Amino acid sequence: AEIQYIRNFCIIAHIDHGKSTLADRLIQKGHLVEDRDFQDQILDNMDIERERGITIKSQAVTIPYTAADGHEYELNLVDTPGHVDFTYEVSRAINSCEGALLLVDATQGVQAQTLSNMYLALEHNLEIVPVINKIDMQAADINMARKQIDKDLGLDSSEALLVSARTGQGVDELFEAIVKRFPPPAGKVDAPLRALIFDCHYDPYRGVVVHVRLFDGTLKKGMKIRFMYNGTEYDVETVGVFKLALVETEELKAGDVGYFIAGVRTVSDVRVGDTVTGAENPCEKALPGFREIKPVVFSSIYPVDSNDYEELKTSIEKLKLNDASLVYEKDSSAALGFGFRCGFLGLLHLEVIQERLEREFDQSVIFTAPSVKYKVYVRNGPTAEEIMVDNPADYPGDGRVESADEPYIRASIITPTTFVGNIMTLCNEKRGVQTNMTYLDEKRVELVYNMPLAEVLFDFYDRLKSISRGYASFDYDITEYKKTDLVKLDILLNGKAVDALSQLVFRDNAQARARMVCERLQEEIPRQQFKIPIQGAIGSQVIARETVNALRKDVLAKCYGGDISRKRKLLEKQKEGKKRMKMVGDVELPQSAFLAVLKSK
Ligand code: GTP
Repeated sequence: AEIQYIRNFCIIAHIDHGKSTLADRLIQKGHLVEDRDFQDQILDNMDIERERGITIKSQAVTIPYTAADGHEYELNLVDTPGHVDFTYEVSRAINSCEGALLLVDATQGVQAQTLSNMYLALEHNLEIVPVINKIDMQAADINMARKQIDKDLGLDSSEALLVSARTGQGVDELFEAIVKRFPPPAGKVDAPLRALIFDCHYDPYRGVVVHVRLFDGTLKKGMKIRFMYNGTEYDVETVGVFKLALVETEELKAGDVGYFIAGVRTVSDVRVGDTVTGAENPCEKALPGFREIKPVVFSSIYPVDSNDYEELKTSIEKLKLNDASLVYEKDSSAALGFGFRCGFLGLLHLEVIQERLEREFDQSVIFTAPSVKYKVYVRNGPTAEEIMVDNPADYPGDGRVESADEPYIRASIITPTTFVGNIMTLCNEKRGVQTNMTYLDEKRVELVYNMPLAEVLFDFYDRLKSISRGYASFDYDITEYKKTDLVKLDILLNGKAVDALSQLVFRDNAQARARMVCERLQEEIPRQQFKIPIQGAIGSQVIARETVNALRKDVLAKCYGGDISRKRKLLEKQKEGKKRMKMVGDVELPQSAFLAVLKSK
């Protein structure tokens, strides 16, 4: 299409406000698929995404649309991930558009990520069209949503569209608004190529598929391109557009959204946010705003059965092909053998990887307690040397640590006023310092806290959700490093420290954490032939203690004289349980013990 008939837009919304459902409706109306083939939520194509109902990777799709003015338009919908961990990907996706539909759930109103996503869109000078969704619902309160759009977002609510993504009501008007209210892309076809990488994925048959938005120039098969971040060059094999499947085209031009394939081997060679240009006739400056994605949460992954190490390795390599933000290196533990130290964008990212390993790749794995990355100052002669530590195993234990800094976040929580007191108590307990409190309207407040990231890793979301009965919403940005008082908490089983259970914790939390871990382990570890003391210790000082008593009877003793099939069943059950057991020294630890220490009750 000619550039004036192209519209590039995204849908931004708080989680669950209906982004994927609306995207599906747009695709369906665009007749990209036969209605009878239509499968709900086509854009969210990973199982876990479907089950949890969250969008993780951004996707794009080109929807043809004949507008009321009689012209044929090409609408490029760039989907954005819906969770706080993936802000950077959201911002790249937003950057490849001229317009954003800002969805507000009519039953929920404006939430934390509605605000943060709107700010992102404003930063990138997008035209924003507010859309009130779920108007078919009994609990929809359109007036409330309008008021919040005016007051909290500072947008004109009289311009808001009323839509039900579920029933399709209002979607025709929405198509017209996309064409009329979003500007066409600006760009010069005859200028040197400048294309933004907003995503990429690995296709087992074609290799790495790079998703791009062209700002200037053209991109064709046979052309030599250059990634501006590191200067590597490749020959373009194919280019095309997204029509649910990849559809090859002659070329891509300024203003277009599409993909290219160029013999790149792994997705980690491709950096989201980087600029692609022509090797022969490069553009002068890369597109602004590129930054490297840095993991902020770390954990080690071990196979439950050490014999499965190679299999786990292959699985992680495969995962990495599709998820450039996952970083890993080899790790080893005296207790658990060989494994991997992995970096994640946040806790949700970690959970997604865990689930994918278990479900897609059928791996039984153990994740160790997640940690942030600390700056640790170690005495080195007269000076202090700064080292980065994200693994308790790397924490210098010989008293050489002078001090340590930990990462802080700016946390924004939007909640109905009823829960403010409890949420403040929670944030204080989590070492949060309140920096702002704004009444959005009579019923809702935004609380802003400076808080250590480490406190959010442990039991924050769950408690926030439970004390606000699910109503509070949460968003965060990493801000700075600040002084902390760090200790390494060791857990001893039968007198021996289990390295995989060690954690770096804030000194004042150590006692409570140690007690909690010991109690949870005591519940999880099955009785064995001997008594097992469980201890929490800082250095040689024991600060918590529990005991698992010795087994008194054999499992079969109970059914002495009972029928044989029952005995067999019991034995089989026991064997089943064994599969998920890990021998740590002379103690059998169930996989669940490792999970249990990650959460309080
Ligand atoms: P993330 O991908 O996690 O960001 O969520 P999302 O914003 O894509 O939300 P999704 O489309 O998955 O919708 C969340 C829930 O709301 C689903 O159960 C939808 O079926 C439902 N839903 C979405 N739009 C409507 C609507 O217009 N009416 C009603 N009644 N339900 C809707």
